[in-house]
Amino acid sequence: MIQLIRGFKDILPGEVELWQHIERTAQAVFAAFGYSEIRVPIMEKTELFARGIGEDTDIVEKEMYTFEDRGGEKITLRPEATASIVRAYIQHKMHADDPIRKFFTIGPMFRRERPQKGRYRQFYQIDAEVFGIESPYLDAQMIYMLHLLFERLGVSHTQAHVNSLGCPVCRPNYREALLALLDRVEEQLCPDCKRRKSRNPLRVLDCKVPTCRQAVTEAPAIVDFLCGQCQSHFDVLTRGLTQLGVPFALDKRLVRGLDYYTRTAFEIQTTMLGAQSAVAGGGRYDGLVQSLGGPPTPAIGFAIGFDRLVEILAQEQSVAAAKPAFFIAALGDAARQAAFQWCAQLAAAGAYVEMEHGDKSLKAQMKRADRLGAAYVLIVGDSEMAAGKAMLRDMATKEQSELALEGLVEKMVESLSGRKAD
Ligand code: HAM
Repeated sequence: MIQLIRGFKDILPGEVELWQHIERTAQAVFAAFGYSEIRVPIMEKTELFARGIGEDTDIVEKEMYTFEDRGGEKITLRPEATASIVRAYIQHKMHADDPIRKFFTIGPMFRRERPQKGRYRQFYQIDAEVFGIESPYLDAQMIYMLHLLFERLGVSHTQAHVNSLGCPVCRPNYREALLALLDRVEEQLCPDCKRRKSRNPLRVLDCKVPTCRQAVTEAPAIVDFLCGQCQSHFDVLTRGLTQLGVPFALDKRLVRGLDYYTRTAFEIQTTMLGAQSAVAGGGRYDGLVQSLGGPPTPAIGFAIGFDRLVEILAQEQSVAAAKPAFFIAALGDAARQAAFQWCAQLAAAGAYVEMEHGDKSLKAQMKRADRLGAAYVLIVGDSEMAAGKAMLRDMATKEQSELALEGLVEKMVESLSGRKAD
């Protein structure tokens, strides 16, 4: 038997209802802040991610699904959505009439990481991006929007972690101070970090290897090196979060795994997912649009790990699968033929209805109706067909009533609206 690929998964009926509920809630919250949906392809030219995310990141170095297509073009299954949305923003000149644009997208991403709980090779993100606004009030508003969504969903045990990563003016000073420390502790660093040290030293702060964690306990904090503008941006952000009542913690070690960030970086972390503590992450990327060929454009965004959010919520709640309003228990050919017609009419009127297609006893049909959770069962056999009436059983009260076959569908739809009004 052919099994699915390691790190990939099916989302089955029974699980998918929670995914749909989260999607609907996110769409409603995003709409209230003026975000429009954008859908970008799941494959792009490899160069987009290499340049966008950064050649020296783990994602680009080791995790991308990259291959040559039959035309010899190097393409990659997207590991994230930001670079693609930036490409679309530039390619369609969306900056031309109004540089301010707000987008969200929901879909699968691909990273060849070591699979474990909360970490998959195909995973889903709920992603939001805003272009054209430099104000730190937007950063605070965006984190508030994320907080509001989590609150609407009833997610508990989360906290926003925020940091500033500075800008091209102040980061070089920090880099120098960090390198001085890393030189002193080089012996304690893992082989990956020894390599990262020269190419991407900030990533060392994010290494999970215990000896590396120990080695950087004395590392300088980037917030102590911010230039005046970055400092005031950060101050307004934290004041804004306080004003809006978003609980947050300053996290001087937060660096993120993608290279495009400037100034604000944030994560929503939780204690409910074991090692994979980040359920969402994001930040400002004021240089990315220009570095990918667009005009200078400030931008900020985040992505929620959809799978992780589902795992948190599934521990606390479930969303019931749809149940049929009617089950038509038909006995005999004539009744089945009529039931087939009613089913089509009821479904066209918007009622979810099931019927028995096989030649089953009434007892077996009632059992199936019960298992499906049908609200009503319409029982009709040859004698009912001859007498021009059927029996309607309310499965909750067990009451039965006779219904004339004439105008049956209208009456059934009516009984449904009466029930909804209860
Ligand atoms: P990221 O931190 O790489 O950021 O991913 C965001 C979230 O996606 C993570 O916090 C995590 O919840 C989830 N995630 C990442 N990798 C996996 C995985 N292998 N399995 C399950 N979940 C995963 C970004 O992707 C940026 N594009 C976010 C952003 C948007 N920054 C600005 N705009």
